[in-house]
Amino acid sequence: MSTPRKLLEDLHHRQAQAEKGGGEKRIAKQHEKGKLTARERLDLLLDEGSFVELDRFVTHRATDFGLADEKYLGDGVVTGSGMIDGRPVYVFSQDFTVFGGSLSEAHAEKICKVMDLAVRSGAPVIGLNDSGGARIQEGVVSLGGYADIFLRNTLASGVVPQISAILGPCAGGAVYSPAITDFVHMVRGVSYMFVTGPNVVKTVTHEEVSFEDLGGADIHGGTSGVAHFVYDTEPECLASIRDLVGYLPGNNVDDPPVYPTTDPIDRRDEALLDLVPDNPNQPYDMHEVIRAVVDDRTFLEVQGDYAGNLLVGFARLGGHSVGVIANQPAVLAGVLDINGSLKGARFIRFCDAFNIPLVTFEDVPGFLPGVGQEHGGIIKHGAKLLYAYCEATVPKLTVITRKAYGGAYDVMSSKHIRGDLNLAWPTAEIAVMGPKGAVEILFKEEIEGAHDSAAETDRLIEDYKGKFANPYLAAARGYLDDVIDPRDTRPRLIAGLKSLVTKRDRNPPKKHGNIPL
Ligand code: HXC
Repeated sequence: MSTPRKLLEDLHHRQAQAEKGGGEKRIAKQHEKGKLTARERLDLLLDEGSFVELDRFVTHRATDFGLADEKYLGDGVVTGSGMIDGRPVYVFSQDFTVFGGSLSEAHAEKICKVMDLAVRSGAPVIGLNDSGGARIQEGVVSLGGYADIFLRNTLASGVVPQISAILGPCAGGAVYSPAITDFVHMVRGVSYMFVTGPNVVKTVTHEEVSFEDLGGADIHGGTSGVAHFVYDTEPECLASIRDLVGYLPGNNVDDPPVYPTTDPIDRRDEALLDLVPDNPNQPYDMHEVIRAVVDDRTFLEVQGDYAGNLLVGFARLGGHSVGVIANQPAVLAGVLDINGSLKGARFIRFCDAFNIPLVTFEDVPGFLPGVGQEHGGIIKHGAKLLYAYCEATVPKLTVITRKAYGGAYDVMSSKHIRGDLNLAWPTAEIAVMGPKGAVEILFKEEIEGAHDSAAETDRLIEDYKGKFANPYLAAARGYLDDVIDPRDTRPRLIAGLKSLVTKRDRNPPKKHGNIPL
């Protein structure tokens, strides 16, 4: 007869079974590959002891291919909720030791359940992906399971933050769900993402390519732009997800958390005075400006290895989260190109969806000219960045440090597209184009007819600079709210942010806009 104690013993036995995943041998194999298990990953991701597991007794329902007798409690994914710095998150962590983490009907249902709970409770969803894709033995049922997840990813987009880590070979459907989420993290030598792997590529296109070169972390971090963060180890990756969550609200109606800072809000930075070189064609590192201004010099850069001409990332000002977008004069002179525009547009739309104010540092000579860019669609891609800035209703603060030329002036959070606080350093140059290009067009005949053309060009450039290449014409029209001492940038931005915390702005009611995709 089953006594309550015996039943409890049975429960403990089943719980222990669930924790074993696909068994000791497969766990050892996972470790041999230098990978953590699904549960070890959750231990590192979540506050100690905070994980509450759901559905640990779920098993698959397949009967074909001998699967009726091969069942593992949990069916290849560990799901539930937990805390990061005391704030709730929902998680799923795929277990490669069970059928290669492949997605069955039951596995998909577990993921869908935590996604639904996350949306209902207004908390981020974090997915740790380590999966061979659709479970082959389940056929269309597993494809249906993926579709159920894709739909939820899409409906949750802009409602709760969705964060993915790729911690194994993810193929097929296993890459499309992360691709819809807001941030993708990868680990060198561990993570691979591809729609079809090297073998299929070889069969179809006769190209021979390794896992690493087809879909490794550095390829997606630096070439395709699919990955937002790339790390050397899993613990670093999971720690970085914790950091990222700290900048984000739980959902689209909450504000991001405020972290009190010991960095004085009135701190002036002397280094900013001499940062912009005298020669307007000489680069400098915009990271230095960002770090000098934000709390504790801490900048969580997003897509740091992709489109380095435009920097994006999270920081805090006076304890408040901000999304930073900055032209980088040290890379391609800070021009806007296709990749930079895509990177910036997606980041801005994320921040806008989640009430994170935008702080723009601007030093941009314009859009990148060239056949490659034109044929690649710089018109439609550049328009994405423009659209994203125009559409954003969060507080928008801009500091022009040097060049704001041409269309790029309009695009980079200008006053005309609802910039709330537009500041410039005295080194700012706001004009249709740079002085040399401008005088060569306007004074072509005078230059050609001059006794000394070079000297005449220099004279005209100086004249042009005096007239146009400064911030005061824009300030005279109110397109800039103020021209400031660069050393005051931090206190001025913090004061601006404070005055905008109650900002309310709305776009006209619509089903959704039609961003030029
Ligand atoms: C069922 C799978 C599986 C799958 C792996 N396994 N993938 N079981 N369905 N999709 C099982 C293996 O049989 C093995 O079981 C265990 O997982 C580990 O797999 P290995 O091959 O031994 O591991 P490894 O050598 O590390 O290779 C990992 C891998 C490879 C690269 C992921 O397994 C692989 O190529 N799998 C198939 C990938 C794929 O084509 N998936 C379908 C994509 S289509 P044992 O019992 O030995 O432990 C798709 C459609 C969705 O996803 C589309 C939506 C848009």
